[in-house]
Amino acid sequence: MPIRYVFVYLLYLCVMREGKVEYMAKENISVLMDEKRVFTPSKESVENTNVKQWMEKHNIKTLDELYKKGGDWQWFWDEISKDLVEWYRPYKKVVEWNPPWVKWFVGAEYNIVHDALDKHVKTWRKNKVAFIYEGEPGEVKKYTYNDLYIEVNKMANALKKLGVKKGDRVGIYLPMVPELPIAMLACAKIGAVHSVVFSGFSALAFRDRVNDCEAKVVFTCDSFYRRGKKVQLKKQADEAVENAPSVKHVIVCKRTGDTVSWNEGRDIWWDDAIKDMPKECETEHLDANDPLFFLYTSGTTGKPKGIIHAHGGYAVGTSYTLKWVFDMKEEDIWWCAADIGWITGHSYIVYAPLILGATSVLYEGAPDWPQPDRWWDIIERYGVTLLYTSPTSIRSFMRQGEEWPDKHDLSTLRLLGSVGEPINPEAWMWYYKVIGKEHCQIMDTWWQTETGHFVISPLPLTPLKPGSATRPLPGLSAEVFNEEGKPIQNAGGNLVLTHPWPGMLRGIYKNPDRYQETYWSKFDNTYLAGDVTRKDSDGFFWIQGRADDVLNVSGHRIGNSEVESALVSHPLVAEAAVIGKPHEIKGESIASFVVLRKGTTPSEELKKQLREHVGKEMGKIARPDEIWFVNDVPKTRSGKIMRRVIRAKAMGNDVGDTSTLANPEAVDGLSKGQ
Ligand code: PRX
Repeated sequence: MPIRYVFVYLLYLCVMREGKVEYMAKENISVLMDEKRVFTPSKESVENTNVKQWMEKHNIKTLDELYKKGGDWQWFWDEISKDLVEWYRPYKKVVEWNPPWVKWFVGAEYNIVHDALDKHVKTWRKNKVAFIYEGEPGEVKKYTYNDLYIEVNKMANALKKLGVKKGDRVGIYLPMVPELPIAMLACAKIGAVHSVVFSGFSALAFRDRVNDCEAKVVFTCDSFYRRGKKVQLKKQADEAVENAPSVKHVIVCKRTGDTVSWNEGRDIWWDDAIKDMPKECETEHLDANDPLFFLYTSGTTGKPKGIIHAHGGYAVGTSYTLKWVFDMKEEDIWWCAADIGWITGHSYIVYAPLILGATSVLYEGAPDWPQPDRWWDIIERYGVTLLYTSPTSIRSFMRQGEEWPDKHDLSTLRLLGSVGEPINPEAWMWYYKVIGKEHCQIMDTWWQTETGHFVISPLPLTPLKPGSATRPLPGLSAEVFNEEGKPIQNAGGNLVLTHPWPGMLRGIYKNPDRYQETYWSKFDNTYLAGDVTRKDSDGFFWIQGRADDVLNVSGHRIGNSEVESALVSHPLVAEAAVIGKPHEIKGESIASFVVLRKGTTPSEELKKQLREHVGKEMGKIARPDEIWFVNDVPKTRSGKIMRRVIRAKAMGNDVGDTSTLANPEAVDGLSKGQ
């Protein structure tokens, strides 16, 4: 090619690039929040997708037609389940709905472990890698489906030997090590119910949960790595079990080799428990509606709720959503960068990917250890194609700067996901541009511990609006109700789900009244999600935050996260937490704790600017009355900003147990704010 053409081409690229940069720079939050601003998926992201194939098979031409088809939800789930799971005995009825109690795939005999493991080892997938495990210090271990199958069988046999039977509860207090999914699957295999407690929770929190479900056996490990330090988990487990009379045995997995205290007769090393155990173990044939696990989640009261999930419906709902939303294909490398201790990890690290026969990354440690590019390095090394994370992580990466991801080849990525909190359009754009290089759809998935799987989420072919989780998926139905239970549009209201769904919780353990009261008492036969949401004129949902985290300023309802999003949209702000304080005249006033971007000097002038910025973005009513510049804001290990703790601290009240925070030191840091 003549040199002048090369030159002209380079010039063209520069102009294009410049154009884009300028376009991005001009982009401000009000433009991004604009409901009319739509990102249409590229042709490549639509072609050959799982959902497109399903549409072709059913002669469905448009997205609207697809959603309509999903409206016939009993037909839809009947049809969908055929592609995903194998029953030991087929069901007689798709659903039995006696509000608020539901049964799915009634009459089926089933066990989720059949789909997660047993069926794969009879096929070529036997030697496919199920998990690529990477420890924080850097060691890597790969588990094929057959490896997992054998480990699970051995542990299932060991549990049986310890007297664990169908219906018994088993507590699991393990970090992100392969033994965690193995322990879960071993329980499920024999029909025992697992109750995983996040390893970042305190001994006290673990004890309360173990006592609530009366676990017979618990799993833990000696210690594990977090940011180069060791967390002594066995010590915490000992403290918990001391006052947990139901626990007869503690199975201890060796993670670091640390010396631990030992209770002879009660404690058993993992390796000793499985030694001499047969490599085969028959999978218990259960009723499809038998419980698979309990997972405790916080409610408005101090006592966590033991959310119950059942085998059959959960298997169908989780695998369907992963297959359609993330378009999971045989060759994908999937990375759900959550912790298995939360519902995200249960559904999208353990069960759904295994049912689909996927290869997943399992990473033990902190995202910024030893350097802020650990994640990007992992993506490059394993060729991750699908990444699923949280807005908080995205915002922390934004704060660290583009130079870290820019050091790595992220070109294998084809879809990106977000979960756990509303994603502010600023973070959305950064994720889209810096990580996805403007060619990956952003899957903003709304769901809860209670829903078991995604409910409101885009599909690869759904047009996107940054900050909106788009629409309920086919087969699922959501609405926004006013206080009178009437559907409303273009105003904040109660997010509700109007018919049952397969992964729906089956109750709160030992507390049917609380189940009825929390979710089903506000509106007839309608599930109350507890989130404030707005549905726009196109039927897109904009989740604004928990109803219990909503401010009422002079009678105006303002989502804490909306104000936070407005603050974070300022170029000098990295993170923000907003709380309400009682106010004599306005009912509540808004106090905000702001983390500035690296190198920014705090000043009174900047406070003024930020107030004005929020005023401009949201209206004067939303301008914070107080702004405090702090180094960090308290967060849970799953990345949620702990407004409750911030509020208590700001009000001079007892902040309660802070041991579950990722950064407890941030609590004291709040009072040093300026
Ligand atoms: O407020 C919503 C928020 O997280 C809550 C559920 O929390 P949890 O049960 O811990 O499960 C988190 C992981 C599924 C919801 O009531 N939430 C979750 N996803 C989103 C979200 N808020 C906005 N957008 C989301 N995509």
